[in-house]
Amino acid sequence: MITSPGYALTNAWERAQRRLAGLEQTYDPTTRKRLSALGLAGGWRCLEVGAGAGSIARWLGEQAGPDGSVCAVDLEVTALHDLPANVEVRQADIRSDPLPEAAFDVVHARLLLNHLSEREAVLDRLVAALRPGGWLLLEEGDTFSIGAIDEDTDHARAMRAWCEVLATVADVDFGRKLPALVVSRGLTDVGVECEVPYAEGGTLGTEWLALTFDQLNERAGGQILDAATVERWKDKLAEPGQWFPSLSLVAVRGRRP
Ligand SMILES: C[S@@+](CC[C@H](N)C(=O)[O-])C[C@H]1O[C@@H](n2cnc3c(N)ncnc32)[C@H](O)[C@@H]1O
Repeated sequence: MITSPGYALTNAWERAQRRLAGLEQTYDPTTRKRLSALGLAGGWRCLEVGAGAGSIARWLGEQAGPDGSVCAVDLEVTALHDLPANVEVRQADIRSDPLPEAAFDVVHARLLLNHLSEREAVLDRLVAALRPGGWLLLEEGDTFSIGAIDEDTDHARAMRAWCEVLATVADVDFGRKLPALVVSRGLTDVGVECEVPYAEGGTLGTEWLALTFDQLNERAGGQILDAATVERWKDKLAEPGQWFPSLSLVAVRGRRP
């Protein structure tokens, strides 16, 4: 039985689509490289969980081609439209709704398990959805990059402030725990990478940081950082030519025997 409240940064927020677009711009290039490195090819059956605004589901559909397929699962599917014909959108709760077993060549999720207190049980379900030989690729956030931000005090303060709020409803340091959990599920060919993307000022990448701050600030009642610091920080985030460390991702891949 599901007892936890679930996802805090709801896609129903009025600026969520823009926020998701910024998240995609930040992380899609490396996610695509990682999926390609698994051998992704025409004919693959793919499961994209917590598909968000759908950029990776769309790209997987293009790679899998007419002989392959993508099942794109999310709690909220309003942003999942204009997708290739081989992408099936399924509105479902990955914690509890039925999921095919031993069915997929690749199962991918990004920034999903961070948010679910049932993350270990969900991990079991994702592994069970793989066909033998199928690949799991999980990419989850971790705050350790924030410790490296010391040359820009406002950026460090703002990132710490929103991560502290998020930590009350999510495991913001889950990325570092993922390798051991994947190994404990008996997966083979395990590989681990860590990424600290940098976003340029004045792009969707930095706008994503500001929007995530705003959504969590609203959720917390609007007082997670003083207004002057927030204003200075947002001004800097809007400056082209300035680069800002974003949230780290730990990416773990493994293959079902
Ligand atoms: C941080 S967003 C990441 C979106 C996308 N994976 C990306 O990286 O661009 C998390 C997504 O997971 C979805 N989600 C959260 N809890 C879920 C659940 N229990 N079942 C299915 N999807 C869920 C949210 O609706 C949201 O779209």
